[in-house]
Amino acid sequence: MNTRPIGVALLGCGVVGSEVVRLLTEQADELTARTGAPIELRGIAVRKLGKHRDVPAELLTTDSAALVAREDVDVVVEVVGGIEPVRTLLLQALRAGRSVVTANKALLAEHTAELAEAADASGADLYFEAAVAGAIPIVRPLRESLAGDRITRVVGIVNGTTNFILSAMDATGAGYAETLEEAGRLGYAEADPTADVDGFDAAAKAAILASLAFHTRVTAADVHREGIRDITASDLSAARALSCTVKLLALCERVPQADGSERVSARVYPAMVPLSHPLASVDGAFNAVVVEAEAAGRLMFYGQGAGGAPTASAVVGDLVAVCRNQVQGGRGPRESAYAQLAVSPMGDTPTRYHVSMEVADVAGVLATVAGEFSRRGVSISTVRQAVRGDGATLVVVTHTAPDSALAATVAALHELEHVTSVTSVLRVEGDTP
Ligand code: NDP
Ligand code: HSE
Repeated sequence: MNTRPIGVALLGCGVVGSEVVRLLTEQADELTARTGAPIELRGIAVRKLGKHRDVPAELLTTDSAALVAREDVDVVVEVVGGIEPVRTLLLQALRAGRSVVTANKALLAEHTAELAEAADASGADLYFEAAVAGAIPIVRPLRESLAGDRITRVVGIVNGTTNFILSAMDATGAGYAETLEEAGRLGYAEADPTADVDGFDAAAKAAILASLAFHTRVTAADVHREGIRDITASDLSAARALSCTVKLLALCERVPQADGSERVSARVYPAMVPLSHPLASVDGAFNAVVVEAEAAGRLMFYGQGAGGAPTASAVVGDLVAVCRNQVQGGRGPRESAYAQLAVSPMGDTPTRYHVSMEVADVAGVLATVAGEFSRRGVSISTVRQAVRGDGATLVVVTHTAPDSALAATVAALHELEHVTSVTSVLRVEGDTP
């Protein structure tokens, strides 16, 4: 057993990195006891030296490449974010046999293959628990605890910003724009909220989850992505009328094909979720992931998906795991991408729709609307109608059908003479009441 100190290079000392330093400092003795060797910070790479007054000045450097290349560095912890220069630095570290812990979902969603290959070539570890759902242990449960099972589906709320906005819209009845502004004032939304509200952040996490769950390489480009910018107060009230709420979901599932093979679907979009569904009660900036596996059944993981201390908890947990591997002279699990399932195009993927529309209260409207669904092979699950004056509100929830058939039906409804307006179209997750 190797008990010499393990040298760590920390890249980044912002929201997450500063908490990593705090945990490593405050818990130094306990971490040594748990790991079997002292974990020693060799240096902290940042962009600007002047602003980091809470960390030892002698550790700070702006020369990340030199820090990563130091002989006394065994593990590189990356909490900078973005693709370059981080990709190059981590490849350099892995090729030199230094293990890597990263929280960088954007990088992993694009470049896991080359990072994993570099790790395999040198025998280094690549750990990334913090990249999906912050503090929530989900990466290692998928990669390790459930390695003996067959996962069929993963559905999660993996973006705290959008969940905060949708929860607030549901609670207050306010519109998207004013709720986003409020989220910014309260520090939940960034000045540029694009990555969150347009679903890029959730799509990166969906790619990582799908890759792990289905032993297949899925990148962010494979993930169908729709954000929450177009969600209106009417969508939320339509959901409430059906005892549902609206959540931005990351969905990853196996899609059986007619020839008996399987494809993988990975997608992110806002969906109606019945209040009885376990994800419906996940409010505010919290995250949760539901995993369905053949033998284990349904599992749910819930907690804080962002923030300095919660994310640092996952980063330091990975660091301890990597250090334990080094103390014992071994290596953690490698990337498992043997299945290489094809990705199901969104149009072929089975989904369910809810459609609310305002119609004229004249003979034959219901039959005409129903005809548009049946013409495309879409079976209707429920229809509700409320008459007001000379018009009516018609709410249709479908059974499962290929997404392209559902989308084509909605496009056709817009063109019908007696459909005054289509007021809400949302996909549905779970069984509506
Ligand atoms: P911050 O922006 O708060 O911190 C980034 C840090 O990286 C800063 O210390 C910055 O230096 C440093 N940095 C930037 N560019 C370079 C560079 N070229 N070389 C060296 N250092 C550099 O980011 P976060 O801490 O919020 O996020 C870090 C990572 O963790 C990202 O990948 C993010 O996606 C991920 N993550 C974050 C979560 C969160 O809640 N914040 C949750 C889950 C994951 P300086 O301070 O001098 O500007
Ligand atoms: N912006 C992300 C969120 C941070 O809102 O969940 C965690 O990845």
